[in-house]
Amino acid sequence: MNNPGLIEKYRKYLPVSAKTPVVTLNEGETPLVHAPSLTRLAGVPLKVYLKFEGANPTGSFKDRGMTMAITKAKEAGAKAVICASTGNTSASAAAYAARAGMACYVILPKGAIALGKLAQAMMHGAKVIAIDGNFDHALEIVKEISGKYDITLVNSINPYRIEGQKTGAFEIVEQLNNQAPDFHFIPVGNAGNITAYWKGYKEYKQLGIISKLPKMMGWQAALSAPIVKGHPIENPKTLATAIKIGNPASWKMAVAARDESFGLIGSVTDDQIVSAYCHLGKIEGVFCEPASAASVAGFIKLAKAGYFKKTAPKGGTAVCILTGHGLKDPDRAVAVSLKPVTCKAEMNAVLKVMGLKARLKKKG
Ligand code: F0G
Repeated sequence: MNNPGLIEKYRKYLPVSAKTPVVTLNEGETPLVHAPSLTRLAGVPLKVYLKFEGANPTGSFKDRGMTMAITKAKEAGAKAVICASTGNTSASAAAYAARAGMACYVILPKGAIALGKLAQAMMHGAKVIAIDGNFDHALEIVKEISGKYDITLVNSINPYRIEGQKTGAFEIVEQLNNQAPDFHFIPVGNAGNITAYWKGYKEYKQLGIISKLPKMMGWQAALSAPIVKGHPIENPKTLATAIKIGNPASWKMAVAARDESFGLIGSVTDDQIVSAYCHLGKIEGVFCEPASAASVAGFIKLAKAGYFKKTAPKGGTAVCILTGHGLKDPDRAVAVSLKPVTCKAEMNAVLKVMGLKARLKKKG
C-alpha cells in the first residue's frame, strides 16, 4: 500500500481534525538499516541501526515537521511562510509551500549552505535571501518579521514542527516491534529534533505502547557546541554546515531530554564527523550528509572508549538518526573522495588505470 504520509498514518496522535487540509508529499516510512560494522566497533552484541531520514521526499527529516507546519498554516489561512535555515529546513519549507500554493521566504547564512539544499529551495520557487551573518542571526530576523507581520514562521519553534517530527520515534518503535531502542543517537543543531523524538517516545510510553524509554545521546560539532560548553557560541564553525548553530532555539528542551533520559549531549570534531561519514559510505553503503554523520561519530567515539561494554543491556539496541541525504552536499563528498581518473577510450588504457591486469583472470 502506498504510504499515505505522516498525518494520515498518525492522525490520532496529531493536532488535526477531519477538516484539516492535509499537505503531504507522502513523507515518512524511512528505512531502519542494520549496521553490523557499528556492532563490531561497540565490542558487545548491541544491535545498531541507522534511521535513514535522507529517504524522505526532500531528502531530510524536516519533511516530518513540515507536513504538519504547512498543513496547519494552510488551515489557518496563511498565504506565506518564512524560515531561517542552514539549508534543509529551507528545502523542505519551499517544497511543501509550493504544494500548498503559498509563498515561501528563506533567510540563509551567505556562503554556508550546501549546494543541493540551495538548489532545492530555488527549484521550488522560494524567495532566497542570503544574509551577511550566521544561522543565529537569520533566526533572530525571521522571529522579528513573523512577530510583526502576517507571515507564518516554520522553524522548529513552531510547535507543529515538533508534533510532526515526533513521528520519527513512533516509526522506530514500530520497526523494532513495539520497543524503543536502548540508545538514541542524534545530531543536535537548533535542537528541535532531539526535543521531538523525546516527546514521541514519552507519548508512546504513556500510551503503554513501549515499556522503557531510550537514553537520548545528542551530538554537536566541537566548535559549534553551545549545549556542551554551557554558553552560546558567537561564531560557530564546522564543515557540517547543517548544525553550524551557536544558540539553539530548543536548548532547554534538549537539556531536559538529556537529563530525563539519563543520556548525554557530547561533541565530535570535524575529523571524527568526516571519518564517520566516510565509514558509512564505504562500509555500510549508506550516503548521508556530514551533519548526519555526527550521530555515528558520537557512537564511534563512545564505542572506542568502551562505553557500551559498561552500559549496553543484553540484547540491546541503538539507533543512529541519519538526518539528511548525502546528495545534499555533493561538494563535501567529492572533497573527501578519490578523484576520477581520465584515460584514453581504449581497453588497455582502462585496464592500466584499473591496475588489475596482472590479477584479473582471463575467461575460458
Ligand atoms: N541534521 C541535519 C541534516 C540538519 O539539517 C539539521 C538542522 C540537524 C541535523 C539538526 O537538527 O536543528 O533539530 O537540532 N537543520 C536546520 C535547518 C537547522 O535549517 O535545516 P535540529
